Amino acid sequence: MEIENKIKHVAIIMDGNGRWAQQQGHQRGFGHENGVESVRSVVEGACELGIPYLTLYAFSTENWNRPKEEIDLLMGLLGKAIAEEVDKLHANGVRLLTTGRMENLPEDCQVALQKAMEKTAGNTRLNLVLALSYSGRSEIADMAKAIARKAVAGDLNPDDIDENTVRQHLYHPEIPDVDLMIRTGGDVRVSNFLLWEIAYAELFFTPVLWPDFRKDHLREIVTQFSTRERRFGKTGEQVRAH
Ligand code: FPP
Repeated sequence: MEIENKIKHVAIIMDGNGRWAQQQGHQRGFGHENGVESVRSVVEGACELGIPYLTLYAFSTENWNRPKEEIDLLMGLLGKAIAEEVDKLHANGVRLLTTGRMENLPEDCQVALQKAMEKTAGNTRLNLVLALSYSGRSEIADMAKAIARKAVAGDLNPDDIDENTVRQHLYHPEIPDVDLMIRTGGDVRVSNFLLWEIAYAELFFTPVLWPDFRKDHLREIVTQFSTRERRFGKTGEQVRAH
C-alpha cells in the first residue's frame, strides 16, 4: 500500500446527480438521494486505502441559488444521512468535520452536524470533511478579514504576513493541502472549491456521474495518481534524485 499511503488528502466535487436522475426520467432529487450511496462507498474506500483526509463538496454557496424545493431536499437528505450514519462512522473510526459558513444552514442540520462532530471527535482513521455552504473565495475573504482584525488590533505586523500567516487563518489550518482533486460528471472546472488548498493538487476529471461513482472508481484514480510525477516547481531530475 506504499502508493496510497503517500496521499494525505483527497477532495471530491460530486457532480452529475441532476443529470443522472433526468436521464432516467426522474426529478433531480432522485439523483441526490442515490448520491448518498456513492458517499457511503467512497468513505469506505478512503478508509480501506488509508487516506487520512477526504473532503466532499456537498453544498456550495452558489447552490443557495437553486430552487427552494431542491435546497430543502438536499438539507433534508443531509440531516437524515448524518443521523443515520453517525454510529457506523463512529464504529469505523471516522471523524466528521465541516468546512464553510455553517451558520447559513438550517438550525436542525447544524444541530445534527454538531452532535455528530462531538461524538466522532476522538477518531483518527479518516477525517471526513463535508464542505457545506462553502466557497473558496469566501474562505479567502474570511481569512483576509481575520488577518486584518489582528493587524488593526496591533497583534500582527503587516510586514510579517507570509504564506504561513495566510494558511493559519484559513478554516482548517491543520488539514494538509489537497494531493488529489476529483470531479465527477464530465465538466472540467474547479468551481470555487478549496482554491488555496489545491495549489499543487493533481486534478482528475471523470465523466462518471456521481450516483454511479463507487470506491472502485476511487481506487482506479488513486492508482493513476501514483504514476504522475509531482514536481512542485522542481525539475524531473531533481525529484527523481530524491
Ligand atoms: C451536484 O450534482 C451535487 C450536489 C449539489 C449535492 C451533493 C449531495 C449529495 C451527494 C447528497 C447528500 C450528501 C451527503 C454528504 C450525505 P448536480 O445537482 O449539480 O448535478 P447536475 O450537474 O447533473 O445538475
